[in-house]
Amino acid sequence: MKNDTISLLQSPTTGLELKLESSTLPDGRIIEQLVSQQAEQFVIANDIAIFYEMEKLTGLNKKYQLFYDKINWYYDLGGKIVMYILHGGEENVRREYLKELEIKDDSKVLEVSVGSGANLQFMPKAPKYYGLDIAMKMMRRCQKNAVKWGLDLELFYANAEALPFKNNSFDVVFHVGGINYFNNKKAAIDEMIRVAKPGTKMIIVDETEQLAKAASRIIPGAANYYRRDKPIEPPIDLVPDDMLEKDVKLTANGDLYCLSFRKP
Ligand SMILES: C[S@@+](CC[C@H](N)C(=O)[O-])C[C@H]1O[C@@H](n2cnc3c(N)ncnc32)[C@H](O)[C@@H]1O
Repeated sequence: MKNDTISLLQSPTTGLELKLESSTLPDGRIIEQLVSQQAEQFVIANDIAIFYEMEKLTGLNKKYQLFYDKINWYYDLGGKIVMYILHGGEENVRREYLKELEIKDDSKVLEVSVGSGANLQFMPKAPKYYGLDIAMKMMRRCQKNAVKWGLDLELFYANAEALPFKNNSFDVVFHVGGINYFNNKKAAIDEMIRVAKPGTKMIIVDETEQLAKAASRIIPGAANYYRRDKPIEPPIDLVPDDMLEKDVKLTANGDLYCLSFRKP
């Protein structure tokens, strides 16, 4: 892991600074880990720093981690097919919300719940990208995709509700596709705001009630995926009052909402 990446990190539990240490196991293998003053240890496995124990996931977070790890192998193709049938293609659907982001060549860009990285293929190559997710198999796929797309990307196994980054670290922060079913949406929104630099415009995109209803009728198994006790609403009420330019747009013919706001 590069030094400039380590300088952005903190423990998601204590907020303490982290430094890189390597140690040699009895069998001769070398492991790298990030450690804090309080002896917290976060192992780096195949270039992904592990900030959360998968076994500790609960509730909806656990349900969707299991779901995405299971379907990782057809997520990219399945997404393309569904978006082609519904909207004539994936690229136009994704570009419609991505155009809201204010990306420069030297930006540090964070995608919360990066999955297989499907948004990143439509983004400029020059910036430095950072992504996190709780589904490891999706992120392994993302690693391969980033190489294919020629992107500079660092990945972290972390929960959106407790990010392993210092305050005011990123020029661009966005999320697509998971928040409707997070255990704690408010914590995730607060965390996105905390790690964004002042002035950053953020977007949060997910399915609308219209898509959840239609998909539940047409796609086998979708009713379980979209199980909910009340209709889906964009979580604008969870965005703190002091955020600027709060707005909700419907995209993909009303199948997605794009909630945006700017950190003062
Ligand atoms: C529909 S996929 C979206 C992936 C990608 N953003 C995209 O647009 O293709 C939703 C992602 O949210 C992730 N996710 C669900 N709950 C999460 C949580 N609490 N923290 C981080 N990621 C989470 C899932 O593992 C999955 O990869």
